[in-house]
Amino acid sequence: MVRAWYMDEAEDDQRKPHMTDPPQFVSMDQLKDLGVLYFEISSDPAKAEKEVNKLRSDRGYTYKDMITCSREKLPNYEEKLKIFFEEHLHTDEEIRYITEGSGYFDVRDKNNKWIRIEVLPNDLIILPAGIYHRFTLDEQNYIQAHRFFVGEPVWTPHNRPADDMEARKTYLQKFNVAA
Ligand code: LAC
Ligand code: NI
Repeated sequence: MVRAWYMDEAEDDQRKPHMTDPPQFVSMDQLKDLGVLYFEISSDPAKAEKEVNKLRSDRGYTYKDMITCSREKLPNYEEKLKIFFEEHLHTDEEIRYITEGSGYFDVRDKNNKWIRIEVLPNDLIILPAGIYHRFTLDEQNYIQAHRFFVGEPVWTPHNRPADDMEARKTYLQKFNVAA
């Protein structure tokens, strides 16, 4: 089950949890209000396949591949991880279905505060187009995830500031975020 919390302000290792003391957890409903969707997929492979296929057909995710982030498996590992952790947005949804390992997606709330979302195997997360976010591995330094997309994938990150982009304006309107 996915957990999310407000991050502390400490500037040290991005791979640490960065929880406040006491922790300030964020509910799935709060995430939904930001347009972030979470699905817990079955740990039974046959059931999982059915659930994921249903979601893909409901949401039109025609493209699928898999990404493994580890020093051994990801080409240009250091550079890629640096890019993933730059605050950015995309013109389309970012969909990740975690099959092994773990990591953190950070998203901005409506007051521009960072929320850290922990993802584990069987978690499927959808970040809406136009949300400012970033990703980091945790101290396990390993994650494997399926990536889905509607049509030909566009992975381009648009680093903040990207406030003039249509995707950003649409996001602000759709989810009632003040610019
Ligand atoms: C991406 C994630 C890491 O853009 O945010 O691939
Ligand atoms: Ni991204």
